[in-house]
This record gives sequence, structure tokens and C-alpha cells, in this order.
Amino acid sequence: MTAVEPGELRRSGDRPARSGQAGHTDPPAGVGARHEQQGNCDDRTDPERGPCPAGAAGPPVASPAMAPRIDLLDPASFRGGQPHDQFAWLREHDPVHRHAEPDGPGFWAVTRYEDVRLVGREPTRFSSHPTIMIDDPPPGSGSEGHTMMLMADPPLHTAMRRLVSRSFTPRAATALRPRVAELARQIVDAVDGRDTCDLVADLAGEMPSFVIAELLGIPLEDGRRLYACTEALHSVRDASSRAAQAAAYREMFTYSRQVWERKSAEPGDDLSSLLIAGAIDGVPQDEIDFFLWFLLLIDAGGDTTRNLVGGGMLALFEHPEQLAWLLEDLDGRLGTAVEELLRWVSPVIHMRRTTTTATELRGTALQAGDKVVVYYGAANRDPEVFADAEQLLLDRDPNPHVAFGGGGPHICLGAHLARIEIECLLRELLGRYPGLRQAGEPTWPSSNFIYGPRTLPVRLAG
Ligand code: HEM
Repeated sequence: MTAVEPGELRRSGDRPARSGQAGHTDPPAGVGARHEQQGNCDDRTDPERGPCPAGAAGPPVASPAMAPRIDLLDPASFRGGQPHDQFAWLREHDPVHRHAEPDGPGFWAVTRYEDVRLVGREPTRFSSHPTIMIDDPPPGSGSEGHTMMLMADPPLHTAMRRLVSRSFTPRAATALRPRVAELARQIVDAVDGRDTCDLVADLAGEMPSFVIAELLGIPLEDGRRLYACTEALHSVRDASSRAAQAAAYREMFTYSRQVWERKSAEPGDDLSSLLIAGAIDGVPQDEIDFFLWFLLLIDAGGDTTRNLVGGGMLALFEHPEQLAWLLEDLDGRLGTAVEELLRWVSPVIHMRRTTTTATELRGTALQAGDKVVVYYGAANRDPEVFADAEQLLLDRDPNPHVAFGGGGPHICLGAHLARIEIECLLRELLGRYPGLRQAGEPTWPSSNFIYGPRTLPVRLAG
């Protein structure tokens, strides 16, 4: 999942912004603001001082005694597991926490379930514009008159979502199930005969790239290639990765323009053709709009779904009694198991909103323009909502987790499809390889936005 960022690609004929759109001057530009900020609490290393203070931006936090060091920007905090010690402390002592930001004004970190839901459900107070990433977009980035749905507020967001929603209803997702199951078979077939493989790259990552290719009406191989481009876009922004990122961005733009041209000339029964023919508030979609849809769809469903499978299997390896329970009745138990893995892993770490007005949250005064960052993994372990919240219980039911968002207008468009992808892949994999075992240590990406292992070696055993 990404945000649109600085522009290198330009097009002529910009058009006026609709309400709720960015008033930027460039066409969509770089992408992949994964914001693996190397933010740290360098000035907060003294354990006696407790959690990171707000710096200049905020008041001291309560009860520092025994507090862990709070740093939700440092990707290291999300390596090997989400920082549940920090989340637990914040939920209890400072649920609307003023977090310092080395290169920015600071933000409010929101960790309680009830508050995460509230922020997600009130777009008039908590806006998705200009971005859902913690970093602000660089000046001059974006594109006049074009907005990615993820960064739009109602009423524009409502109109945009209407354009695509019928492709993602429970009924539409269910209709895709046989094809997704077939893709799962193909994916697992490809590792048959091997002793070991990388569960993330060889299995989990294949599924979302194939499914999105299928939806967009492009060859499966191309889906894989585009997915690799988004990976490059997500890597930490430094001098060495900048050229690769620019190349990946250009490749995606060129590819989306080719699809635009091809499907404009010969529409098919696919999401690309639907988007190309679509209009929002009576304004036809142009190739930049299409490019933004293309990016959002490839990206939003990619590493999220992959990381749920990778992180979920790691959790099962770490809880062998739960894995054994699941294997006793894979078909019957996979439904609740997937929901619990979503709660447990919470692949999307956070989303940001921006206050539109001076307001308050749980008694804390917020100024207009403040960044408010909701932490789904923290909400998903809130003991006020989940009994035995720190235990993985695959039969947990009900399980009102917020892994797909807090229930507001932006709640994950692909949630039904994601569940089917995850279920089909786990059923195929564990059905064929019930003796699947971890075969080495996982590695972790450098991100504070999307959580899950980058690699996970496994031994394929029947
Ligand atoms: C385990 C897999 C997934 C997880 C955990 C996940 C999580 C999320 C979250 C947390 C949001 C933001 C919710 C909010 O701001 O309130 C979101 C939005 C979105 N997701 Fe997913 N997602 C997953 C899979 C998918 C898939 C497979 C697709 C599509 C193919 C998809 C498409 C989208 C889109 C388009 C949005 C933006 C919705 C909007 O702005 O209205 N996601 N997702």
C-alpha cells in the first residue's frame, strides 16, 4: 500500500481539482511513499526517562516508571514482531500519545480500539487528505485534479468508491473463488518436488500478484513483474535505491498507459475496462486517473495479503498446538483461523488522518492540521475488546478485529477477496503439506507501515 509522491512524469492538459482533491501542480509522480522513516528517539535513549517525550511538540507522558522506550517510527521496532510492549504501555497510560518526528511536527499515536474505530469513522474531523502516510508529501508532488481514492474524503471518495465497489462485493469475491483456488493449486504445484522454499516469495507473494492481474485483465506474468516494481518502490529511500525506484515507477506508468490504450480500443470484461469507461461526478477518467487506480489496486492488495500469509504461518510455527488444532479439521476451522491470523498479524501497521479543525480525542486537545496515526496492531490486542488478547486462539469467535480498518468509508475494499485468497492458499498448502515446517530464520523489511516477514524458509513435508 502506497501513497503518491513526487513527480517525474508529466502530462499535458491538467484539469481543475474537484472538491476534496489535492491542489498540486504536477501529475502523479513517484509512488511508494512507504516511509520507512528511520525516525528514532536518539534524544530519548535514557531508560530512566521512559517513553519518548513529545519534544517541543507535546506534554510529558504519564507514569514513565517501567515504561518501554516508545519509538513507532523506527523500522527496527517492527522487526521480528510488532512492538506490543510499547502498544500495551501506550494503551494503558497514554492512549493519545504525542510522538516526536525527527523531520516533521510530530503526530498523535492512537492505540485503543475504540479510538482507532472513531478516527476511521469520522472523515469530516479526521481527513485522509493530503496523505495517509506519516510523512507529508514533498512540496510539488501529486497531480492537479487527480487523487488516489485512499487519500480522498467524502463526497469525492464516495463517488470514486462507487465506481469500483461492485467488483469487490462479497458476491463478486465468491464468484472468483474457483479461479483463486485454481491459482492456489498452480502456485503450490510450482514448488512441488522441492525440499525447501521461501514461503513469502515462492508462495504467499504469488497469489496477490496473480489475482490482481486476473482482475485487471492482464497476463499473470505481468502481474508478477508489476508487483516486483511496487517492491522496488517500497524500499527505503536512499541514494542507492533512488534510480531503481525511478525506473520502477516509469515501468509501471508505461505499462499502465499501454493497458489504457489497449483496453480503450478493445474493452474487455475486466476492471481495467470498467475504470477506463468510468466517470466520477460526470468527469471521465483519464490515463492519470487510471494510473492511480492501477497503482492503488496492485499495491493495496499485494504485500498486505502476502504478509498475512507469511506472518500467519510464522505465528502457526510459533504456536504448534494451534497449528495441530487447525490441521485436525482444515476445512471446518480455516474460517475462524484466518480472522485470528488477521488480528494477530495486522499487516497494515498504521494509517494517518489529519484533523480538519481543532478538536479533542479522549480528552486530549488536538489542533487543526494535526497528524493522527491509528495503530491497528495495538487496537487488535486491546484487552477491553479481546479476552486473552495476547493469546493466539484460532477458534476466537466473534473476532471484531480492525486489520482491514476501523470500519469507516475507507475500510478495505478488497477484504472479501483477501480472505478468499488467504483461505485458498492456506488450504492448498497445508492440505498438501501438513508437515510444513520452518527451515530457518525469517528476515524482515525495513518498514514502519506494513508488517510481516520478507523471507521465511520452509521445509515442504507431507
Ligand atoms: C490481508 C490483506 C489486506 C489487509 C490487511 C488490508 C488492509 C487495509 C487497510 C487497513 C485499509 C485502510 C482502511 C482505512 O483507512 O480505514 C485498506 C484499504 C484498501 N484496501 Fe486493503 N487490505 C488487504 C487486502 C486488500 C486486497 C486484496 C485489495 C484489492 C485487491 C485491497 C484493496 C484496498 C483498497 C483499494 C483500499 C482503499 C479503500 C478506500 O480508500 O476506500 N486490500 N486495506
